[in-house]
Amino acid sequence: MAKLSVNVDHIATIRQARGVSEPDPVAAAVLAELAGADGITIHLREDRRHIQDRDVDILRQTIKTRLNLEMALTDEMVSIALKTLPDSVTLVPEGRHELTTEGGLDVVLLQNTLKQKIALLQQAGIVVSLFIEPNIEQIKASHKVGADYMEIHTGMYCEVRSEAERREQLGRIELAISAARRLGLGINAGHGLDYRNIQSVLALPGIEEFNIGHSIISRAALVGIDRAVREMLALVKG
Ligand code: PXP
Repeated sequence: MAKLSVNVDHIATIRQARGVSEPDPVAAAVLAELAGADGITIHLREDRRHIQDRDVDILRQTIKTRLNLEMALTDEMVSIALKTLPDSVTLVPEGRHELTTEGGLDVVLLQNTLKQKIALLQQAGIVVSLFIEPNIEQIKASHKVGADYMEIHTGMYCEVRSEAERREQLGRIELAISAARRLGLGINAGHGLDYRNIQSVLALPGIEEFNIGHSIISRAALVGIDRAVREMLALVKG
């Protein structure tokens, strides 16, 4: 049965809009866990636009499930991960101009740096996942650099405008799943998934965990986080 890790970044986005202390992503994480979430995901961005260092520290101490830290491939972030020891790290590309993570990591290009940083994180007991496009070369390179998991970037699938495009993008995801399975690479997925578009992805077997933020927090603003998480869990767990 697939798992759901709830990304609480946008609770911090609301807090930072006012520069005050609430709403607190730590409280949101507690409520998401009580609703049944299998894990909590946060992205500590280099510009600290939402999640702050204090959030990472407190969440590490309070989370009862699993903490997944999304971060850029920088020395600063690796040293924070080695200090706070999240259960897993998902390495993502990061651009300061972007509203959210736009593309997948270019693992082929970054092989040497990745190999070294992945080894450092794994030696500290952290599971390492790479956020990549559903592309065979990137999947092979992810296996080669020693990643434990890949997270399939579902952004292109979520942005399709026609049935033909939807089928094409689902086909890419399906091929990516088979390639990762053959290599023994674990499979997660996320980005842009919501209560409607997740259904077709759930029909493809093999994805271990979904990382979902925006759609759950948007719904939570209207119906409450407990209900928003439970409704997504009901879909993910079938
Ligand atoms: N996975 C990764 C690697 C991400 O960077 C993000 C966005 O922070 C997500 C999943 C969640 O995407 P969304 O907020 O669109 O659900």
